[in-house]
Amino acid sequence: MMNTQRQVLFDRWAAKYDSSVANAAGSFPFDGYERVLATVVEAADAKSSMTVLDIGTGTGQLAELFLAHACVVWGVDFSAEMLAQSRTRLPQIQFVQADLLAEAWPMLPAQFDCIVSTYVFHEFNLRTKVAILQRLVKQHLAPGGRLVIGDIAFPTVAGRSAAASRWVAEWDEDEFYWAADESVSAFQSAGLAFEYRQLSSCAGVFSLSPAASALFSKR
Ligand SMILES: C[S@@+](CC[C@H](N)C(=O)[O-])C[C@H]1O[C@@H](n2cnc3c(N)ncnc32)[C@H](O)[C@@H]1O
Repeated sequence: MMNTQRQVLFDRWAAKYDSSVANAAGSFPFDGYERVLATVVEAADAKSSMTVLDIGTGTGQLAELFLAHACVVWGVDFSAEMLAQSRTRLPQIQFVQADLLAEAWPMLPAQFDCIVSTYVFHEFNLRTKVAILQRLVKQHLAPGGRLVIGDIAFPTVAGRSAAASRWVAEWDEDEFYWAADESVSAFQSAGLAFEYRQLSSCAGVFSLSPAASALFSKR
């Protein structure tokens, strides 16, 4: 069952989304947007023929970067209007409409070499983030595959609180921006060993170590 209220919000944003993220230097929440996407591609070690699943693909900006490396890309999103934008931009990619909160995605291939996502997981609280990522690793990541997530994030819980005071007008209390210290620790407890790198005033990238993903996939 899809989360209709959030879907409507993203459907309405779709036509203007690309202009929201362009020239966002210094502003919340898209300061460093291009650097975040480029770092996700670099951390994923994108190469020709690699299979990549882009979660919450939106208008397809991240998918496009992987396509430029000749990867075989699939994009998933629950917003029909976002998918309309991405299908127009990248007609050669397979896009699927699905909710991240669904228990399974039988319409997707069972395994990808790499799962990536940018600016999506702040939709979910920490517990849900962990549950979704555990499911994705178990159901769709090849043993030893990479999982890389770029999002609105801060190094620590204290840093996130300071940011909330700095960007009072822009801060959305209904969203769950990452604090790397608490997140890395929660993921560790769930068997997922993540590394974190801060890339801008309000964004960073989490990468699952390949060795950890190999261990997890065998369970
Ligand atoms: C801020 S946009 C990011 C788009 C793109 N990844 C980027 O970095 O530009 C968030 C995207 O996540 C999608 N999304 C949010 N919640 C979702 C959910 N529960 N299931 C599937 N997609 C979701 C939205 O429809 C939207 O396209």
